[in-house]
Formats: sequence, structure tokens, C-alpha cells
Amino acid sequence: MSSSDLTQKNIEELERQCAYLQEQLDQVKVEQANYLQNVSHQLVAPLNAIKWHIENLTEGRLSVERAKKVLRSIYSQSTIAVHLAKNFALMSNLEEDHALTALKEPLQPVSLCRLAINLADDFQPLGWEKNIEIGVKKQDFEAAPEVLVMKPLISQVLSNIIENAVKYSHPESSIQISGHYDPASDMVLVNVGNRGIPLPANTPDVFARGFRSNDAKNKYPAGTGFGLYIAKRIVDIHEGSISAQTTEHGTVVFTVALSVRGLQGKARLRDG
Ligand SMILES: Nc1ncnc2c1ncn2[C@@H]1O[C@H](COP(=O)(O)OP(=O)(O)OP(=O)(O)O)[C@@H](O)[C@H]1O
Ligand SMILES: [Mg+2]
Repeated sequence: MSSSDLTQKNIEELERQCAYLQEQLDQVKVEQANYLQNVSHQLVAPLNAIKWHIENLTEGRLSVERAKKVLRSIYSQSTIAVHLAKNFALMSNLEEDHALTALKEPLQPVSLCRLAINLADDFQPLGWEKNIEIGVKKQDFEAAPEVLVMKPLISQVLSNIIENAVKYSHPESSIQISGHYDPASDMVLVNVGNRGIPLPANTPDVFARGFRSNDAKNKYPAGTGFGLYIAKRIVDIHEGSISAQTTEHGTVVFTVALSVRGLQGKARLRDG
């Protein structure tokens, strides 16, 4: 084979690779546009609901009971809007850079029990709309040591799991959050259990970027399928684990395990 043949072959190969990369880039652009559209569409819904509720309140002809209900709905819708906006910010961050330092959050000791109680309070008004009670079982959980984590990120992990539990639960059911310390691994485990739509046959799929089961799409057509992907990425960054399973009684349980001291010395600590 002459050297000009070789050069021609190299050029063809480079052209093929270039076309392939261009195709991938186009696909990413389409995905990004779809994601943006989906997020903004989802953000508009709670904001419109809030606007409508406020209009209702300012007309002033509501009974005290009704006004309380409307205020509770405003609270739930704001919880959703804040939750979505935080996921959106995290998603841009995670897509930009995979490194721990890129997330720029310092580590701080966090009581996962307290965090769970606060999040349960935050999501409870949303649950009430479907008569769903969110309970935190403090036994064992309260005694667990604090974990050294990036608090806003771990808060978003639990909030993505709890939001799913509320969204995908049967009405009139309950969500149970529990936790305990495992001395063998020096980890604190948090479980969120709910009863509702089933997990997909291949359970790990739920953590894949953009995955949504047909049951989920039927129940809630809007959704990005990024909530658990974000959760897993954050947990991975913390060198912890996240998993899902269905118990023999049909309860779907998500478990997050975080190391008490695992990240010590690997990232900046919060001052003070
Ligand atoms: N508690 C649950 N019970 C059953 N299936 C679940 C539960 N939580 C998540 N899933 C499944 O995992 C999929 C991925 O969840 P994820 O939170 O990533 O996306 P989503 O909830 O569909 O969309 P988004 O979070 O953007 O609103 C869901 O679509 C659903 O199929
Ligand atoms: Mg979700």
C-alpha cells in the first residue's frame, strides 16, 4: 500500500470519527433543549398554581378553613418549585464537572435524623393533598452519629427520594422514614418506604439518567427522570451507596448509606 493510500485511509477514518462526534453532539443538544423545556414546563405549573391561590385569597371571600387549605397548597407548590430549581442547578453542575471540588460545598457534620424530620415537615402538606402521612421513626435513628457531608446536596438526595415517595404512593397510604447506625461499616443508613407504583423489573434502571417507568409516566406525565440520577451521583461523590428494593409486603424502600467519617481529609471542612 502506498503512503498516499494510507493518508487517504487516515483521512477517511478521521472523517468517520468526526461525523460520529457531530452526531453525538447534536444528540446532546437535543437532550439539553428537551430537558430545559421539561424543567421550565414543570416550574411554570407550581408557580401558576401559587398565583391562582393568591388571587383566590385576595378576593377575600374565603372561610378561615378554606383559606388555611389554600395557604397549605401555596406551601406545597412552593416546595415543589424550590425542589425543581435546586435539581436544575445541581444538574448543570454535575454535567459540567464530575469532581468533588466542582460542587464547591464544604463538609459539615449533619444529623440525618434531623434532616429527615425537616424534609418530612416540608413535604407533608404535599402529602396531605392525597391523604398521605409522612412519618419519621426516631427509634435508633436519633442515636445515630452525625455524618460528614455536603449538607445541601445530601438534603437534595433525600428530598428527591421523599418527593418520589409522595408522588408515586397510593392515596391514603403512609411513608415511613427510618434510620440507624451500622458500626461495622461506620455508616448511617436511611430508609424511605412507601406503597404505590411498582419498581421496574430491572431495579437499577431507576438510577439511570432520564429513566422513567411506564407506571410513573402514566401517573405523572411531566418529569425528567433525573431525580434519582442526581441522587446517585451525589451519593457516589460521598463514597456512599443508594439502592432500591421491594419488600415481601410490596413496600418500595430506598436506602441511602453514608459514611460517618469517610470523607474526612478529602474535602474542605466548613469554617466554624
Ligand atoms: N418510590 C418509588 N416507587 C416506585 N417507583 C419509583 C419510586 N421512585 C422512583 N421510581 C421510579 O424511578 C424513576 C426515576 O425516578 P426519578 O426521580 O429519577 O425521575 P422522575 O420522578 O420520573 O422525574 P423527576 O424526578 O424529574 O420528577 C421513576 O420514573 C419511577 O419509575
Ligand atoms: Mg423524581
